[in-house]
Amino acid sequence: MSVLRILFVVIFTSVCSAQAVVGDDLLIDDFESDSYGEWSITGDAFGAQPAPGTLANQMPVSGFRGQGLINTFVGGDATTGTATSPPFTIGRRHLAFLIGGGARQDSVGIELLVDGKSVRAATGAESEELQWSSWDVGEFAGRRARVRIYDRATGGWGHLLVDHLVQTDDPPKRFDLEYQLSKYRQSADYLREPLRPQYHFSPEINWMNDPNGLVFHDGEYHLFYQYNPAGNSWGHMSWGHAVSADLTHWEHLPLAIPEADGIMAFSGCCVVDHHNSSGFGRGDQPAMVAIYTGHGHGKQVQNLAYSNDNGRTWTKYAGNPVLDIDNPDFRDPKVFWHEATDRWVMVVSLAKEKVVVFYASKDLKDWSELSRFGPAGVAQKSNWECPDLFELPVEGGGGKSLWVLEVDMGSGSVAGGSGGEYFVGHFDGTRFTATQDAKWVDFGRDFYAPVSWSDIPQSDGRRIWIGWFNNWQTCLVPTSPWRSCMSVPRTLSLRKTPGRDDLGRDDSGEYVLVQRPVKELQRLRVHSRSIQTHAATWPPVAVTKPGELTDRVFELETTLKPGTARSVGLRIRTGDDEFTEVGYDREPGAVYVDRRKSGNVAFHQAFAGRHEAPVRVLDGEVSLRLLVDRSSIEVFINDGEAVISDRIFPSGQKPTIEVFAGDESAQVTATTLHVLSSIWHPSVN
Ligand code: FRU
Repeated sequence: MSVLRILFVVIFTSVCSAQAVVGDDLLIDDFESDSYGEWSITGDAFGAQPAPGTLANQMPVSGFRGQGLINTFVGGDATTGTATSPPFTIGRRHLAFLIGGGARQDSVGIELLVDGKSVRAATGAESEELQWSSWDVGEFAGRRARVRIYDRATGGWGHLLVDHLVQTDDPPKRFDLEYQLSKYRQSADYLREPLRPQYHFSPEINWMNDPNGLVFHDGEYHLFYQYNPAGNSWGHMSWGHAVSADLTHWEHLPLAIPEADGIMAFSGCCVVDHHNSSGFGRGDQPAMVAIYTGHGHGKQVQNLAYSNDNGRTWTKYAGNPVLDIDNPDFRDPKVFWHEATDRWVMVVSLAKEKVVVFYASKDLKDWSELSRFGPAGVAQKSNWECPDLFELPVEGGGGKSLWVLEVDMGSGSVAGGSGGEYFVGHFDGTRFTATQDAKWVDFGRDFYAPVSWSDIPQSDGRRIWIGWFNNWQTCLVPTSPWRSCMSVPRTLSLRKTPGRDDLGRDDSGEYVLVQRPVKELQRLRVHSRSIQTHAATWPPVAVTKPGELTDRVFELETTLKPGTARSVGLRIRTGDDEFTEVGYDREPGAVYVDRRKSGNVAFHQAFAGRHEAPVRVLDGEVSLRLLVDRSSIEVFINDGEAVISDRIFPSGQKPTIEVFAGDESAQVTATTLHVLSSIWHPSVN
């Protein structure tokens, strides 16, 4: 017998004998019946029967099998209790289950009891999406056991989700990112889904939130972002990564900073350490250093990771954390080099206290507190997070510049839900002083946690930021296999506008933040034409040709002349009953985006709405620049003085643009349409 043949026989027999011991799965419970049967229940967190999915006031629950599951959100997070299974005999190598909900093992979880002793335990990942988990229970073969699910927690994430408890020799894998990505990359749908943004950045698959670590280095703009490698809703937060040479076309790169040892990688920033102050550099090559929040074990701390290969691989600093004040809501550091004081400055938020703290460091490792700012600005917000601080030029100000502090609130924002506010003032290297009241960053519902790029060369000189194009309140948008996108990158400046006193008289004026889409986006214009519009009235009239906007990716520049009319504007129509309206409304003196009929608005009861930005009418005109993508609209008003950013989820595939005016004195005029190319599939247009 040849060696090969012997080998074959050995392998074949071992595979066969392994198969011989693999048994069918033994179901413990799938919670599909309308009672808990022989389970014993204590407390009030479990209700009288398994839950039919999502419960009242809960974010949508997903990933369970069939109709029912254990969901201890009965009566909200405040309820507590236990559910203990009837005894069973351990008859397979593994015990597998789907699990979601809170992540504090000490207060919410599932455990295996053998002889009354807890021998295995698991908990959720602060996500309403259930994931597979399993225990190797081989050592208990033949023993009698029970499963106990407990909820002793009463605060946020004080609930657990469990489904499909099964004994098995072949436990299902957790979400396998590499496998799922390679499958998706081969699919015909790849970055082509009807609602897939075609020139706004989105991850290929899975959940994304805040932009992180924006930095320019060696000819590349880096975009890191809050990412869940294990699913399409929030959880397992890690840093995803993409790069671009032109802020327009993005290349998706592998995960940069993963969650590890129960510590998630929350939001933060990245700098290039040109002077090697941290000692992480190699030779004369400066390191990229990420400063991010570690979230886990009941607190939030600031950590470092560094890269010596242009961000392709990352090493977590062995001396982490570099900043720990034993606080559960201390997050989102933004660091920059402060030339005048020759040191690094960090702004970071004490989220619950609605305060930001400034720290200084010589080496990115030792930090000392400089000062605090806040609470300030809008009073009714729930928290403050994701601060940014930078100096901006004043347009036409002869070289004058001022400092801007931007901070985001999880709820209480101008259009409802989450949003950002900013303060204009001075920063002397130690302390920030606001010189005027807080203002809203964006008047739509979907622009959150913007942060600006670090290290853009002085020869360029721009301050550019990007925001999460979403709102925490309505974040479970109806897209799959990915969720969320970023806004377009925007160039920032300050403009002095005449203010008004109580009697409507001009006073000394105020500075407003001006945001404009970066100029690089103009390269996506594949076809531009001016649109002839006459003094249009009611009903709205179409101004585009059939088929012109088939790919639903375009930009429109236009001027509204309200005259004496109550309102004037445009509709982006995608079907007979579907349109998004953008107009000027005389009564509040505001530009608005009305998305109440924009398409799928039913996925969340707070989604449908109309969002207004108060604006100036200058010489009888309001100028608009609209950026429309397959599931979003951004309206830049009066050359960036105000912005409304809203997601929309149209189902109609063939948009037309219509214009309307309340009376014949009003006009939609000087209109130019630019059809844009897809950044993923340039041949689309
Ligand atoms: C803001 C935020 C940050 C946090 C991150 C977690 O959207 O809550 O404060 O670092 O998201 O994903």
